[in-house]
Amino acid sequence: MQAINIAVDGPSGAGKSTLARRLAAKLGYIYVDTGAMYRAIAYHTLRCHAEDEAAVMELLPVIHVTLKYSDGVQRVLLNGEDVSEVIRTPEVSMAASRVSAIPAVREHLLGMQRQLAAEQSVVMDGRDIGTVVLPDAQVKIFLTASAEKRAERRFLELEQKQPGVQTYEEVLADVIRRDKQDTEREIAPLRQAEDAVLVDTTNADLDQSEEMMLAVCREKLGI
Ligand code: DC
Repeated sequence: MQAINIAVDGPSGAGKSTLARRLAAKLGYIYVDTGAMYRAIAYHTLRCHAEDEAAVMELLPVIHVTLKYSDGVQRVLLNGEDVSEVIRTPEVSMAASRVSAIPAVREHLLGMQRQLAAEQSVVMDGRDIGTVVLPDAQVKIFLTASAEKRAERRFLELEQKQPGVQTYEEVLADVIRRDKQDTEREIAPLRQAEDAVLVDTTNADLDQSEEMMLAVCREKLGI
């Protein structure tokens, strides 16, 4: 049976990971969070104080990122170490955005991402899934929301995990800075694929957003 590929792209904080995970669970597909792979590489480079592109490239051959699934939950392994939680800090977010602009880093992950999608039906989220990684995906969704709304969501999420780490204004500034970095980089910039359906979640809660995404899948897949 042919694997079904659903590509979900969009800026940070649009609800991609939560919604892609929910969609995958609903459809019985595997959820692949590609941002976590960039985060794992970024985490390693921070730990090794690899500050410029040359230093990051030198490290790449010894960085092995793998995904493991237990009870349907994705865990990210960095050279065998489970880094799923430690890669979620604001520092790693900024570093991930920086390392993801390095062509060799993207190349390092591309083959693995394509293989995962060839082997099984997936909902894969990221920035370039519909445009570069899976150009032939049967469903492409571009998920977005206003920068203010995305910052508000990220702020509330951070407050729950690490209260007082960043103010709302700082989170908003980070969101705007990351959007700029992710959309203006030369390689695989964040952009909506021509055949992607835009889903704007600014005024929608999670259930409503999920329903909008499911509606797109039903239409495209005829299910
Ligand atoms: O989705 P996220 O916030 O976990 O992603 C972290 C960073 O990785 C983000 O700033 C951009 C980058 N990224 C990318 O360039 N391409 C992807 N497919 C996924 C993430």
